[in-house]
Amino acid sequence: MWFMCNHSSFLSVTTLYSHQPDGKMVTFLAAYVLLNFAPLLVLSVPPIWTQPEQVHLSYAGIPGSMVVTWTTFNKTDSMVEYGLQGGRLFEMSAKGDATIFVDSGEEKRKMFIHRVTLTGLKPAATYVYHCGSDEGWSDIFSFTALNSSFSFSPRFALYGDLGNENPQSLARLQKETQLGMYDVILHIGDFAYDMHEDNARIGDEFMRQIQSIAAYVPYMTCPGNHEATYNFSNYRNRFSMPGQTESLWYSWNLGSAHIISFSTEVYFYLEYGMDLIFKQYNWLKDDLEEANKPENRAKRPWIITMGHRPMYCSDDDQDDCTKYDSWVRVGRTDIKPPAPGLEDLFYQYGVDLELWAHEHTYERLWPVYGDKVYNGSKEQPYVNPKAPVHIITGSAGCRERTDRFNPNPKEWSAFRSTDYGYSRMQVVNATHIYLEQVSDDQYGKVIDSTWVVKEKHGFSSWLTSF
Ligand SMILES: *[C@@H]1O[C@H](CO)[C@@H](O)[C@H](O)[C@H]1NC(C)=O
Ligand SMILES: *[C@@H]1O[C@H](CO)[C@@H](O)[C@H](O)[C@H]1NC(C)=O
Ligand SMILES: *[C@@H]1O[C@H](CO)[C@@H](O)[C@H](O)[C@H]1NC(C)=O
Ligand SMILES: *[C@@H]1O[C@H](CO)[C@@H](O)[C@H](O)[C@H]1NC(C)=O
Ligand SMILES: *[C@@H]1O[C@H](CO)[C@@H](O)[C@H](O)[C@H]1NC(C)=O
Ligand SMILES: [Fe+2]
Repeated sequence: MWFMCNHSSFLSVTTLYSHQPDGKMVTFLAAYVLLNFAPLLVLSVPPIWTQPEQVHLSYAGIPGSMVVTWTTFNKTDSMVEYGLQGGRLFEMSAKGDATIFVDSGEEKRKMFIHRVTLTGLKPAATYVYHCGSDEGWSDIFSFTALNSSFSFSPRFALYGDLGNENPQSLARLQKETQLGMYDVILHIGDFAYDMHEDNARIGDEFMRQIQSIAAYVPYMTCPGNHEATYNFSNYRNRFSMPGQTESLWYSWNLGSAHIISFSTEVYFYLEYGMDLIFKQYNWLKDDLEEANKPENRAKRPWIITMGHRPMYCSDDDQDDCTKYDSWVRVGRTDIKPPAPGLEDLFYQYGVDLELWAHEHTYERLWPVYGDKVYNGSKEQPYVNPKAPVHIITGSAGCRERTDRFNPNPKEWSAFRSTDYGYSRMQVVNATHIYLEQVSDDQYGKVIDSTWVVKEKHGFSSWLTSF
């Protein structure tokens, strides 16, 4: 491009000066050399990369908090300037830190991931913010601080398996988020396909794609198999979930729900550490124990889990969930020491709802435990169900397209769809959760909806007759 430009300027110079006497020719040649080669020298100086990009939010787990995370490719300070909507713009400011993330690909690309935690936010108040430093500020975004009341009824969008290529549901999710339809997004693993590819440029572009969602509402995540390369380094470095596990497993509270996010991948990538299965299992047990203390369960009766690979599914691939003894469900007896699975643990502690993805389909299950259906009653299976309810929602859209179902599902399979889409959930109150499935193929039509109703929670609720 530079060369082309200067070539034409050379032509115009020639026309202009062609009538001049010969003595001017030297000056002209010097000008020619300058005009045509100086820009080539300029080309070798890299641009400055201090402009913030890939802005996204997450909830830090403490009422009145929000984390703003973004990327620059040159080192800068990490600041957020913010203020209440309608008040004085950028009235307040907060400082954070940047960590250097060096991708493990050939180019060893380096980026700075900035994190600023805002605290003391007024519950349910809307804030306007930008992030960056004196070397460059982002666009202006806004978010609503999460309402910290136990009686708040948060609205979620849920999905997994959303890629950079063929992200079919993305535009609809962007628009609905900006319309204010969601308080929180749960992305249940598998991002970008894959974040590490093209020396992590796919990760960069994906994070730019979701900015129009994630800069407005907290974007809460768990890792999937597509994050596994280089020991999940793109996932661990780019997201900022609560706790000290580099976003691998954590829990948080909202309204009447306690939400647990974990990594199913510890069961599959033993090369990154078999101990991670046990570390996570012990953490899950402690977290569930705490959440089940009567004073805690009284305030947050719903326990909801999210993990990438389901325990059950009826797809026709040979994935773990298609097997009777899936590793996530029953653990691994082929390793030493044997690793416990999660179904018994979740059942023992009365987990109400389990959200999954990985299968590029939507599937709702009747209440299930030990491969058997435990309906609340035949007429109202989700009213006081006698086992956890499972939802698989991994059809947001990615380059691998959608999956197919096997024609003979087991009796726990209640509803299935291979349409691209995503789920919505509202934790309405202590007794009611509403779930629905949106088909993007059918222009946003709701193709499935369910109320889960529980008058009692916890292990004893499985055995109680009402
Ligand atoms: C800015 O970042 C680019 C790309 O990583 C790098 O090549 C360049 O050396 C950096 N410049 C400074 C001043 O750090
Ligand atoms: C938070 O939600 C509760 C329940 O919906 C509502 O009563 C309360 O007014 C909300 N808080 C604020 C500050 O809006
Ligand atoms: C992979 O990352 C996890 C989380 O940081 C760490 O605990 C583990 O030791 C790493 N495994 C290897 C083989 O480096
Ligand atoms: C569970 O409830 C559904 C809906 O009523 C019904 O179709 C199914 O047969 C029930 N399953 C069992 C095992 O009762
Ligand atoms: C909980 O929400 C449901 C559905 O909106 C409603 O019927 C029920 O009365 C609510 N319960 C309480 C205690 O407000
Ligand atoms: Fe997956």
